[in-house]
Amino acid sequence: MSTGLLARAQALAGELTALRRSLHQEPELSYQERDTQLFLRQRLEAAGFTCRVVADTGLLAFPPATARGRAGPVVALRAELDALPIHEANEVSYRSRRDGVMHACGHDAHMTMVFGAGQLLASLAESLPGSFVLLFQPAEEVPPGGARRVLDEGVLAEAGVEAIFGLHVDTRYPSGSILLRKGPLMAASDRFRLTVIGKGGHAGYPHLAVDAVVIAAQIVLGLQAIVARRLDPMEPGVVSIGRIEGGTADNILPERVTLSGTLRSHSSDVRRQLPEWIREIATGIASGAGARVEFEYLPGHPGLSNDPAVIDFLAEALASDFDTGQIIELTRPIMGGEDFAHYLEVMPGAFLRLGVRNEAGGIVHPIHSPRFNLDESALPVGAAALAIAARAWLTRSAAG
Ligand code: NI
Repeated sequence: MSTGLLARAQALAGELTALRRSLHQEPELSYQERDTQLFLRQRLEAAGFTCRVVADTGLLAFPPATARGRAGPVVALRAELDALPIHEANEVSYRSRRDGVMHACGHDAHMTMVFGAGQLLASLAESLPGSFVLLFQPAEEVPPGGARRVLDEGVLAEAGVEAIFGLHVDTRYPSGSILLRKGPLMAASDRFRLTVIGKGGHAGYPHLAVDAVVIAAQIVLGLQAIVARRLDPMEPGVVSIGRIEGGTADNILPERVTLSGTLRSHSSDVRRQLPEWIREIATGIASGAGARVEFEYLPGHPGLSNDPAVIDFLAEALASDFDTGQIIELTRPIMGGEDFAHYLEVMPGAFLRLGVRNEAGGIVHPIHSPRFNLDESALPVGAAALAIAARAWLTRSAAG
């Protein structure tokens, strides 16, 4: 039995595409989302929503009084506002107008779909057995992430939010597919910074110095043994160094070289072990070469795991409007991190992924690529999926 929400969402397709393109053209970096905040606020207020500022550059939007439904449970739908420091390589009419900044993680689409879901839910008015809020959260891309700040501000608790749903676009799967995963979906994502401290000197007299560059290079290679040799082969884990900084001139051996990188894991044991192993290996290599290291561990987002019971319930709710072939159960987790994990640590809900791949249209590039794009025909699908999730949760919660 169709709830009609997908059909209603399809009717909004043109509006959603236009909204996504407007957002795409004016991307802003984490915690700088002032223009995005203002733009969304105007759009939401024009649609009858009331907005409250959260986490400085974010918004919490409450539906119009006429569409608040009956007194009852409240569910939140969440999107992120921030873009990435990437120079867009796509030649499209709605290309980023801000040099070096790009919505390369699909957050423009996430905002659009949450906005669309809000319109769908608002149109249900009295038939909604509870209410909802739209959460536009800033700074998902920079740890510790805007989610932590939203929770610390207590605005969700104040609004009586009892469950939360969100989604992320995925160019690995065909446009319009909805990807569900029971249990671990996204990895715990932490960072580290390692500074090798040797003894600076003249590049022509290496025997009089302790070359931090060579020692750092050995450490980079040595750390590869963590995943290859120390980690249980059946456990996922990643140790990546994304940045190396050191030196001032070709003929000077620098005293310090800094390596910084990312750690990904799914189990809490692995999450605890990775930084211990890094410290141990780096300290060993450095001391063997007469240098020392300073190690800094920067904890980030916890792993994101979906409650299997919530996914079962969602799959059933989505089956009302979607073909079974459109709903795909993911058998493996992914190593991307997501600060939505913080919400699921304190309240029920789920995080979905939405296929946006379109091979014929050349939309195949992964998120964080300068060529990332998404198939816009998925926008109504995502909006409908979020609205169906919210409505199903409220219906079940009000009945229970
Ligand atoms: Ni993202």
